[in-house]
Amino acid sequence: MKERIVSGMRPTGKLHFGHYLGVIQNWEELQHKYDSYFFVADWHALTTKYDKTETLKEDVIDVVIDWLSCGIDPEVSTIYVQSLVPEIAELNVYLSMITPQNWVERDPCLKDMAKIIRSKDGAGAQINYGLMGYPVLMSADIMMFNSNFVPVGSDQVAHIEITRDIARRFNNLYKTDFFNEPKPLLNHCALICGLDGNKMGKSFHNDIKISDTEEITTKKIMTAITDRSRMRKDDPGHPDDCEVAFKYWQIFGSEQDIQTVRCECEKGLRGCADCKRQLAKVINARFAPIREKRKYYEEHPEIVEKIIREGSEKARTEAKKVLQNVRNIIGMY
Ligand code: TRP
Repeated sequence: MKERIVSGMRPTGKLHFGHYLGVIQNWEELQHKYDSYFFVADWHALTTKYDKTETLKEDVIDVVIDWLSCGIDPEVSTIYVQSLVPEIAELNVYLSMITPQNWVERDPCLKDMAKIIRSKDGAGAQINYGLMGYPVLMSADIMMFNSNFVPVGSDQVAHIEITRDIARRFNNLYKTDFFNEPKPLLNHCALICGLDGNKMGKSFHNDIKISDTEEITTKKIMTAITDRSRMRKDDPGHPDDCEVAFKYWQIFGSEQDIQTVRCECEKGLRGCADCKRQLAKVINARFAPIREKRKYYEEHPEIVEKIIREGSEKARTEAKKVLQNVRNIIGMY
């Protein structure tokens, strides 16, 4: 029997290169080794965006289309939407009963989120009850499928620690060994910065989307920061001080490309504009098959809908089994 992994993403709409390199590529590899459950965390989106739901459905679909285009295979992995598996909400109720309040209050990820809300809405801003439950709901996501591992970025590890604590507490309280204590599986990834050299993010307007056209990608790449000390194109350049473009070469170029770029740049044989134009070509070639697939799914929304419905049904079947066990263990009617 394969060990199981569960991971999710909030529905932030069309995904960018950071998601691709940091998360999706990992999932794509892991799905062949593990019994894999990947879901769109639309309830988690509501913890902060309960008042911005106009685009929620579209955002869910966009995330799934990006996954499918990047090779997450619905024949191999179970792809679903959190809110289409209501069993998770019931498990969340049981887990919330056994989770001490100070466990969620000390969750560092939650503290960061609270900070962001206060910086936007003022020092006295309310933190909703649902947001306080974020780590418990996340534990329900993971424990719903009695997962062994959770592939996540390092920013999510504190959440998984709480999940382990809750699983252990459940087992102790109800004198069972039913739940695994799931371990984080750290994404090994090339961290990609945004076009301005800062962390890539949708809200920073420095990202390149998987779904961007070749023209837009090229336009964006042309704005990427290079070696700020370089004035003319035949000045010798410093690839290691090149803030964005050379870093992208190192991620997307072949060994040969990287060597050539370094050598020509250092000798002043390659201007930054030409360099970036060439870089854009390499990146566009890499994403061409993904974008082709994306176009296909965009043109066939009924196929995406079917994948989401079927995946969610499959997830529910498994979730119902776990939930029946949990109800029995606790002693529910
Ligand atoms: N909190 C995660 C994030 O913001 C998303 C998430 C929700 C998740 N539930 C999960 C990730 C369960 C892994 C497992 O990225």
